[in-house]
Amino acid sequence: MEVIEKPEEMQKRSLELRSQGKTIGFVPTMGYFHEGHLSLMRRAKRECDVVVVSIYVNPLQFGPREDFNRYPRDLQRDLKMAEEVGVDIVFVPKDEDMYPEGYQTFVEVTELTKVLEGFYRPNHFRGVTTVVAKLFNIVLPHKAYFGEKDFQQLRVVQRMVKDLNFPIEIVPCSTVREPDGLAMSSRNTYLSEDERKAAILLNQALRAADELFRSGERNVARLKAKVWEILATEPLVRPQYVEIVDAENLEPVFTIDKPAVILLAAFVGQARLIDEWVLVSE
Ligand code: PAF
Repeated sequence: MEVIEKPEEMQKRSLELRSQGKTIGFVPTMGYFHEGHLSLMRRAKRECDVVVVSIYVNPLQFGPREDFNRYPRDLQRDLKMAEEVGVDIVFVPKDEDMYPEGYQTFVEVTELTKVLEGFYRPNHFRGVTTVVAKLFNIVLPHKAYFGEKDFQQLRVVQRMVKDLNFPIEIVPCSTVREPDGLAMSSRNTYLSEDERKAAILLNQALRAADELFRSGERNVARLKAKVWEILATEPLVRPQYVEIVDAENLEPVFTIDKPAVILLAAFVGQARLIDEWVLVSE
């Protein structure tokens, strides 16, 4: 497995691979791998000739009071895990190479980012789209793999790719969950034992709403009330928002007559966790 630090070198390598007719699958990450990341890498491996994974904790997407400094990092562990999955190249850029002095160019998806995560984390998506656009230009992938757990991020990246004509297929991948339903996230490492137990409630609340939906309920206010009711049973869980929106354009819906998604964010102790659940009629 190759480890590349310099953007110019990564770009040169990708151009070489492309000129040999190889397809490049790309998994952008912030590292501290869990099964969710590995499943994206395995899928890329099945679908592409060469798999490139980036590991970069992007300072631009963290707010001033967020967890940039304590975000979990363990490069040696990540490299070992990537190698075991059969990743071909790991790109590990440095801040000074991604945002050198004088840096002043940003990519912004204006509308989709006003709501949900974008409302509670101003500038977060501007940081995400800027770094993802840069990574796309450096790695030059044919396909890029994104988890549905960060559902709004997925839609924002898809919009950016469309609007800016990136010749890249975005491949959405289902959320990978712990056996008890908790969505896998590097931020789960912040949870104490009690908080970890309490965090299961996020998934239980989503499942309860899904059950209600499957039994015929289409009224969004009632489905949302179900989620809030369940989250309220656990004092360690402090929900920030619970919304049900159109699964394509993230616009508000009141009655569900096409695919919709429940999106929520909640603090459990110090950890701010998000989760998603797509509601589709059978
Ligand atoms: O989802 C993430 O891990 C990050 O937002 C991403 C896409 C790697 C950009 O920094």
